[in-house]
Amino acid sequence: MIRRIYLDNNATTPVLPDVLEAMRPYFGEHFGNASSIHHHGQETRAAVERARDSVASLLGCRAPEIVFTSGGTESNNLAIAGLTSADDHVITSGIEHHAVLHACKHLEEMGCEVTYVPVDGRSLVDSDDVRRALRPNTKLISIMMANNETGVLQSVEEIGKIAEEADVYFHIDAVQAAAKVPIDVKRIACDALSISGHKIHAPQGVGVLYVRKGTHLQPLFYGGRHERSRRAGTENVPGIVALGKAAELAMQGFERGEDKKMSALRDRLQVGILAQVEEAGVNGEGAPRVPNTTNIYFDHIEGEAMVISLDLKGLAVSTGAACSSGAIEPSHVLTAMGLRVDRARASIRFSLGKQNTAEDIDFALVLVPEAVARLRELSPVYKKKAVTF
Ligand SMILES: Cc1ncc(COP(=O)(O)O)c(C=O)c1O
Repeated sequence: MIRRIYLDNNATTPVLPDVLEAMRPYFGEHFGNASSIHHHGQETRAAVERARDSVASLLGCRAPEIVFTSGGTESNNLAIAGLTSADDHVITSGIEHHAVLHACKHLEEMGCEVTYVPVDGRSLVDSDDVRRALRPNTKLISIMMANNETGVLQSVEEIGKIAEEADVYFHIDAVQAAAKVPIDVKRIACDALSISGHKIHAPQGVGVLYVRKGTHLQPLFYGGRHERSRRAGTENVPGIVALGKAAELAMQGFERGEDKKMSALRDRLQVGILAQVEEAGVNGEGAPRVPNTTNIYFDHIEGEAMVISLDLKGLAVSTGAACSSGAIEPSHVLTAMGLRVDRARASIRFSLGKQNTAEDIDFALVLVPEAVARLRELSPVYKKKAVTF
């Protein structure tokens, strides 16, 4: 059987065994509707509230400030639509996930104005650009904490200060930052922050929106009074329990220094690849990054061909955001950083998870240089260069 190594954890992470064990009873004996007043309902209600406490501890907030949703996309949409109305002005960046960018496009169709601040060559937003973009009718700033493609971390504390001074809401898409770097919503001074279960070793289809106490949030859905009327709909109890467990494991991981071990593994992968492959480099080099991600360009190859070639050998990586894989356009993140289109197309994202080991990295360090060499053999430009020099 082919050995399979998964280095695409920014697309989704495997559910950890302890997380699966925690959620399993809520598919069976603990099946109650958390809104029911009888024993079965009380049992699941208690489990939901325990999970809420765990997620609140992970984010440094109070439990009632946690709203459970169906994932990062819903959390982002709830924050963006829920904190704005027609005629408002919103500030975001050009490298956000489509769950933010397309939500903002919809706001524009509804009569809002949106400013998309640029990023520099390392994919960093300049907080002065955010300050300069403020207008009298600015209602919301939405900037991601960590980019899903490069892993680069934005200066959210600086932006939080700008938002606070201007009395503007600040929403953070922290889907790719949660459980990778410590988050303290009070220190950042944000009003809303999104996380997603499946990026932190809980299952797909559950997420959280932190909403600062006293923030007036318009719901997306109308129905029952679930989640203090901020998100109607019967709670996904197994998913919520799993997310609570994943949050606990993330906190324990920080205490044990697992984030440092992960960045050491990531660095070993990155250094090992760059030592063996010429005409390659790191996108976002020099910027602060989450510990699990590196995005590397390999000139003279097609990223999609590289993903397929590596997959055939048992290594799963990605060319960028999973939802745009297969699309003809190069990544909007990499082009916003100023990468040439061919270099953006030649870029591969490697993203580690808690399950990855040093052996996995060694496996990748054999396969990646081989795949690049094979693909460059087929590249007419690279062949011509080889003859010329
Ligand atoms: C930065 C970022 N925001 C939002 C999302 C959407 O999260 P979900 O898949 O839970 O809807 C993703 C998923 O890739 C992401 O990477």
